[in-house]
Amino acid sequence: MSYKILCLGIETSCDETSLALVGDGELLGHVLASQSELHALFGGVVPELASREHYRYIGKLFDELMQRTQLDIHAINTIAVARGPGLLGSLLVGVAFAKALAIGLNARIIGVNHLHAHLLAVGLTQKIPFPSLGLLVSGGHTNIYRLEAPNRIEQLGKTLDDAAGEAVDKIGNLLGFPYPGGALLDQAAQLGKPSLAFTLPYLHNNNLDFSFSGLKTAVATYIQQNLQPLNYARPVTDVTTLPAAVLDLCASFNLAIAKTLVIKVHRALEHERDLQHVLLAGGVAANSCLRQELTQLTHDLHMSLHVPTPLFCTDNGAMIAYAGYLLANLGLEHDLDFETIPRGRIIPNDYKSQS
Ligand code: KG4
Ligand code: ZN
Repeated sequence: MSYKILCLGIETSCDETSLALVGDGELLGHVLASQSELHALFGGVVPELASREHYRYIGKLFDELMQRTQLDIHAINTIAVARGPGLLGSLLVGVAFAKALAIGLNARIIGVNHLHAHLLAVGLTQKIPFPSLGLLVSGGHTNIYRLEAPNRIEQLGKTLDDAAGEAVDKIGNLLGFPYPGGALLDQAAQLGKPSLAFTLPYLHNNNLDFSFSGLKTAVATYIQQNLQPLNYARPVTDVTTLPAAVLDLCASFNLAIAKTLVIKVHRALEHERDLQHVLLAGGVAANSCLRQELTQLTHDLHMSLHVPTPLFCTDNGAMIAYAGYLLANLGLEHDLDFETIPRGRIIPNDYKSQS
């Protein structure tokens, strides 16, 4: 089988080393090594360790991917790599590997915005509807976008402080959940009774931005005063053993985060009246309460909701390979000297068109 565009995707922006091959839009293979157990020992990602682990595994993972797919390495004509945002040292490992391979294989190279790849990940399993509204919620970002095309994505709102996942992980940490605690906190929440005990943060304005640090502080204070004295086994591995008061707190916090996100999505849809489709992306897209609230909203507004499969919600190489395929299909690529962009800097649209 020969492919017009056979794209290798490389993801090393945080603590997952992952590679994938996409041939003419179809996912052919995907490999991933997560470092989360290592970083859990420190309660968060340690940047120096993350880059070292990427460096240790990236070559082995590439060999494994070629072995699994049984494709000829010389058939790879496109290499897409996450260029940012992310941890600089980690990104550099993936970008250097991609550039070396592109030179060796004489392949085109495309630096992919990690956030855009999250939003486009839904295309791995279904056709992406354009134009659409995108909510990206991860450990590092909470952003709202308008998506016109794979390379025309406009940011409408962002978090001014903590990302939703970051706030969840910090509360998880206070309750004794191993890092990152989002998934476990969500499981606990499903066993508890939610109440709107906490004020939904940063809604008394007209914008589409978020601020979760006030909510995080209110919940942390409640935990310190009421839950930390409780006697239960930490680190928590089995949420069914948690006291009811902890389960209820998780449910109320989960609800506050989900409702806040959904209220701003609703507001964005009122601003962008021509949109009929909503995309949900990023690790927090796995959250049961958020999915439920957003399903309800889109149903009420007669709109469609599109969410990637759980494996492709969190960081993965398949979304990078797929975004690279879409961009290559539009005739876009980079020169070999394109830069790696860490967190906090705007990623330029500096593609060049193939001549
Ligand atoms: O997209 P992602 O894998 O990495 C970043 O680019 O940040 O997102 C990871 C985040 C973590 O904060 C994790 O706790 C959170 O997603 N997460 C969840 C759930 N599953 C993962 N948060 C809430 N509910 C979940 N079910
Ligand atoms: Zn991510």
